[in-house]
Formats: sequence, C-alpha cells, structure tokens
Amino acid sequence: MANQIATNVTWHDGEISREDRYEILRQKGITIWFTGLSGSGKSTIAVALEKALYAMGKLSYRLDGDNVRLGINKNLGFSEADRKENIRRIGEVAKLFGDAGTISLSSFISPYRADRDEVRSLHDAANIQFVEVFVDCALSVAEERDPKGLYKKARAGEIKNFTGIDDPYESPLNPEIHLKTDEMTVEEEVAIIIDYLIKSDTIQTQYMTRASDEFESVAASGSKS
Ligand SMILES: Nc1ncnc2c1ncn2[C@@H]1O[C@H](COP(=O)(O)OP(=O)(O)O)[C@@H](O)[C@H]1O
Ligand SMILES: [Mg+2]
Repeated sequence: MANQIATNVTWHDGEISREDRYEILRQKGITIWFTGLSGSGKSTIAVALEKALYAMGKLSYRLDGDNVRLGINKNLGFSEADRKENIRRIGEVAKLFGDAGTISLSSFISPYRADRDEVRSLHDAANIQFVEVFVDCALSVAEERDPKGLYKKARAGEIKNFTGIDDPYESPLNPEIHLKTDEMTVEEEVAIIIDYLIKSDTIQTQYMTRASDEFESVAASGSKS
C-alpha cells in the first residue's frame, strides 16, 4: 500500500511484551472497525459501545473520521489517494493501540474494500484481532438522517466526492458483524458487538484477574521477574 522510503531502519524490541501490557490492563488489544455510509451510525454506535465497555472495566479508545482529520491527517483531503492514505495511517494507529492493549473503535466511512482489506492484513501480520463491522443503512435513510447536513450540501454540489452520491461505497463481503441500523436500535447493535467479543473470547477472563500477591512481589522487587 505504501512503500518504505527510509533505509537503514530496523525495529528495536523492548523487554516488556505485549502479553505483559495486556496483563496490566486485564484485556487484549483489538481493533473494531466500523465501516458504512456517512450517517449510517458508525460514530453513534462507537460512542455507545465505549460507554458499555467502560462499564465492564474495559479500556477502549475511539478513532473517528473528523477527529483524525483535524489532527494526524489534517494534510489529507478526499481524493481516492488521500482516502487511501487516511485509512492506511488509521490502520497503523489502530494496530499500535492494539499492541498497547487498547480496544480501538475506528469509525471511518472507509469506502474501498481493498483499503479495509489492507488494514486487516496489517493486523493479521501483527497478530492483532480485527473485527470489521458493516454499519449498513439504506442510502435513503442515511440521507434522511443527514446528521451533519452533508448530504444536502453534496446534492447541492457544494461537496464533491461524497460517498454514496458521487463517490462509490463498496460493501464488505465477509464482515465479522453486520448491523442493519435502519432496522435495529443502538442498544441492540451494542449488545450484538459485546456478545461477539465475549463469544470470540476477546474479553477473556484471564485478563480480568491478576493475583494480588504476584502484583505485590513484582512491586516489591521493583522489577519484572
Ligand atoms: N439504529 C441506529 N444506529 C445508529 N444510529 C442511529 C440509529 N437510528 C438512528 N440513528 C441516528 O443516525 C445518526 C447517525 O449519525 P452518525 O453516528 O454521526 O453516523 P456516521 O458516524 O456513520 O456518519 C445519528 O443521528 C443517530 O442518532
Ligand atoms: Mg461519524
């Protein structure tokens, strides 16, 4: 997807493993990737899921389209090349969050199948679970919702390259989770995702408890045994 430009760079390993970090957090890092049309409900579901996970004592962090475009990706627009680079960078960021132990909730239209598959491959190579959630909603319903007034502007020709209007959206072929947000409630959608995380053993009991005596002995010795 992107070529390595710098030469003479090698990965420098640390002495604290991913498993060590996961143990501190009592959870595994994973990426939940929401894809769907603007207004389909990606951000709304991520916000509700973040609250549900918080209530379960799970650390998650939202990576959301506009938030990211205001920061790390402020130099990118909406051309096909920039959309690709937008998704590639977020994929790398989500992977780092996963390695650190966080459940990242990534909400991006991410309209191109190849780009999403690329992010999936990045995660596979790093052995971090990737859960693609198709936030499916009829264009007519998303346009009716128009939470940010963007469809109106796109129809008026004020926004170019708008997904669903004058830019394509490629639906996932095999998403881990398929939510039909024009038929379900937000509560049902969150429950389906939590259920999936429990059934796929992502929220593992082994990360939920840590023997206090072991913790004390590590603290007393001042170093990792
Ligand atoms: N079942 C549902 N799931 C998610 N959002 C819904 C649902 N029903 C209605 N909505 C509404 O749809 C809109 C979705 O907007 P948003 O989450 O910003 O979409 P996106 O992030 O995909 O662009 C919100 O106003 C939300 O309240
Ligand atoms: Mg959004």
